[in-house]
Amino acid sequence: MVDTQKFVQTIDELERTLRQLADSGVRGFDCAPGALDTLQAWGRQRSQPQAPESLEAIREDIGDCRRCKLCRSRTRIVYGAGSSRARLMFIGEGPGQDEDRSGEPFVGAAGQLLTRIIAAINLRREDVYITNVVKCRPPENRLPEPDEIATCSPFLRRQIAAIRPVLICLLGGCAAQSLLNTTESISRLRGRFFELQGCRVLPTYHPAYLLRNPEKKRAVWEDVQMLMKEYPYEG
Ligand code: URA
Ligand code: URA
Repeated sequence: MVDTQKFVQTIDELERTLRQLADSGVRGFDCAPGALDTLQAWGRQRSQPQAPESLEAIREDIGDCRRCKLCRSRTRIVYGAGSSRARLMFIGEGPGQDEDRSGEPFVGAAGQLLTRIIAAINLRREDVYITNVVKCRPPENRLPEPDEIATCSPFLRRQIAAIRPVLICLLGGCAAQSLLNTTESISRLRGRFFELQGCRVLPTYHPAYLLRNPEKKRAVWEDVQMLMKEYPYEG
């Protein structure tokens, strides 16, 4: 008899390893995003034949995380906030100082701009779900490093799988490049939809970048209108 628990664990570990290799640019075996998603779905279907795992279960699994070096300088883990049934999810880069202190994503200046963007879509923050690529603040607000992104992104993928939003808006180059597994610049990636874990994904500029570069407001407004066109307001 196959030990199902063990089998599932092995699949999960294999998937995580392949993803880390894929995220760090290794090629030459089948680590295409589609194959990895299939593997992930396979492992999860077997471990959860009915209900998908809950956001709370994923948070519990993160625990008092020490899996990467960001744990040394963080104050709080910033897991994510909003509706578990959100149809629209926003993914930023990582917590800043205000988020590190409060434990809530996007509460500083960039967060206030994000709140205004959400209001422009005729939604409230509690209607959507907001999280980041890494859950702990990088020191001095530096960019998250590849090993930190690779360690944290399985949790983000599980959050996406738990929520199953219709739309995902990727805020800035870090989120867009790491989730779409590309080195293409945000200015080239923004303004069109991609597919990820069964969701329609739209990259746009990060609100912090927008604060420094107000001339990009027009582009972001175009992207926001694309989200509004696709958002299922009814039903
Ligand atoms: N910038 C981000 O990318 N995420 C936050 O939560 C806050 C600022
Ligand atoms: N660089 C980023 O990382 N994000 C932006 O939105 C713009 C430039």
